Amino acid sequence: MRLAGSARRVALDIMGARNVPPGAYDDFAQLDERDRALVKELVTGTERWKRFLDYYVSCFCHRPLEEVSPKVLNALRLGTYQIMFMGIPHYAAVDSTVRCIKSRAHRGFVNGVLRAIARHPGHVEMPSLDACPKEYAAIRYSYPDWIVERYFRAFGMQDALSLLKTQNNPPPVTLRVNTSRSERDCLLKMLHESGFSAEPGILDVSIKVAGGRSVSEFPGYSEGLFSVQNEGAMIVTRVLGPEPGDVIWDMCAAPGGKTTHMAELVSETGFVVASDINKQRASMITESSKRLRLGNINTTVLDATSVHETAAVLGAAGFPLSYDKVLVDAPCSGLGVIGKHPDIKWRRRESDIPNMAKRQTLLLNTAAQFLKRGGRLVYSTCTLTHEENQEVWRNFLDAHKGFAPVSEAVSLNERTETLDMKNGCAYLLPHVHGTDGFFVARALKRHG
Ligand SMILES: C[S@@+](CC[C@H](N)C(=O)[O-])C[C@H]1O[C@@H](n2cnc3c(N)ncnc32)[C@H](O)[C@@H]1O
Repeated sequence: MRLAGSARRVALDIMGARNVPPGAYDDFAQLDERDRALVKELVTGTERWKRFLDYYVSCFCHRPLEEVSPKVLNALRLGTYQIMFMGIPHYAAVDSTVRCIKSRAHRGFVNGVLRAIARHPGHVEMPSLDACPKEYAAIRYSYPDWIVERYFRAFGMQDALSLLKTQNNPPPVTLRVNTSRSERDCLLKMLHESGFSAEPGILDVSIKVAGGRSVSEFPGYSEGLFSVQNEGAMIVTRVLGPEPGDVIWDMCAAPGGKTTHMAELVSETGFVVASDINKQRASMITESSKRLRLGNINTTVLDATSVHETAAVLGAAGFPLSYDKVLVDAPCSGLGVIGKHPDIKWRRRESDIPNMAKRQTLLLNTAAQFLKRGGRLVYSTCTLTHEENQEVWRNFLDAHKGFAPVSEAVSLNERTETLDMKNGCAYLLPHVHGTDGFFVARALKRHG
C-alpha cells in the first residue's frame, strides 16, 4: 500500500482505512523510528479517546457531526487529540493537521474548529458526575454506554470509574523469563547492563520494563531468554499449575503465550499439545517455541467446539486423548484488554456476547471429555462480562457434576502474595492488580 506524506497524513490515512495495521503501509515503514512512534500514538490515542474528542469537537462545531465527512471528522479528532493530550504547541497541532486536508473548503472548516478549540481548551462543560455519573463516565473516559452500564452494575460506581480510567492506559510491558534457559536475576542484570530500565514484577518470573522500545532490541530476545507477556496471562498459567512431567492440552492456544509458559514448567519429562482453530495463528506457536528452544510442544489445528473433530484430529496425529491438565483460554469479547487494544471499545457489540458464551460452553464441554480423572481444568477469558465468565462456568459445573471447584489460593511469588480463588474463581482487574483484565476458574475432575 503506497501513501505519501508526513506522520500526521499517514496517521489520518491509517485512521481512514479501518482494520489495516500500520505495518501494512509502505509509507509507515519508511518513516524514521520517531515518526513511526508518533503515528502509533496519534492513531491509538485518537481511537482511545474518540467519544471524548467527538464531544469536544461538537461543542465548537456548528454542524452536527453526522453531517461531517469521515475524513474531515478524523482530522478534527486528530487535531483535538494533539491539543488536549499531547502537549504539542497548539499552533503546530492545528497547522500540521490542516495541511493534511486537500480540499480548500474543508481546510477552512477544520482550521476554524481547531483554532476555536485551541483558544479555549478546557472550556467545555462535561455532564455532571453527581447528577449523571454514567453519562459523565462515558464521555469523560470515552466509552460506549453499554460498557459503562455493565461496569457500574458489576463493580459499583467507584470501582467502575477507576477501571474505566485505568483502561485508558496501555498496561505495563512485562517479560516472562524462560526458566528453562535463564533466571530472573540474570536477565535483570543483562537488561541493566544494556541500559534498559527494568525491575522485578509481581511474579517470581516477571520483569517490568519501560515501554517504547521494540522487544527484539532487548538483550536475550533472539536467544529465547524471555517472552513478552502480560502478568495477568502469566497468572492464568500459574492457576493451572503445570509441573514437571505433566501432559497438558492447551485448547485455544494461539499465539502461544501460555503454551510456551507451560512448556517451560513441565520440563523435558512432560509436554504440551497446543491446538487452535486458526492455522495462521497456530504457526505463531511454532515460531515462538523455536525461538525459546522448547522441544516439548506439539501444535495442531482443530475446531474444539466439536468433540468428534477433536478426537479425530488428536487421534490421527498420535496425540493423547486424555490429559493431566487442560486449559481453555477461550475466545471472548476482550473487554479486559481494552488498555492495549482501544478499538475493542467501538468494534465490540453487546449483542456479540450471547454467541461468545455459547461457544465457550461448547469448548468447556469438549475439555471435560479429554481430561483424566483427578485432572485439573482451568477456564479463562480476557473479558469482564458476567455471561462469559461466572455464568458459563456455573452452567458448566451444573452440567458436569463430576467436577469440583478448587478454592485454594494460588501463590504468586516468594513474598507469599497470593490470588484468592473464592468458589474456584477469580478476577484480575487492571485497576486493582495492574494487569490486563482476566477471569480465571479452576476445577478438579473427580469422576465422569
Ligand atoms: C484468547 S485467544 C488465546 C490466547 C492464547 N491462549 C495465548 O495465551 O497466547 C483465543 C484463541 O482461540 C482460538 N479459537 C477460537 N475458536 C476456537 C475453536 N472453536 N477451537 C479452537 N480454537 C479456537 C482463536 O483462534 C484464538 O487464537
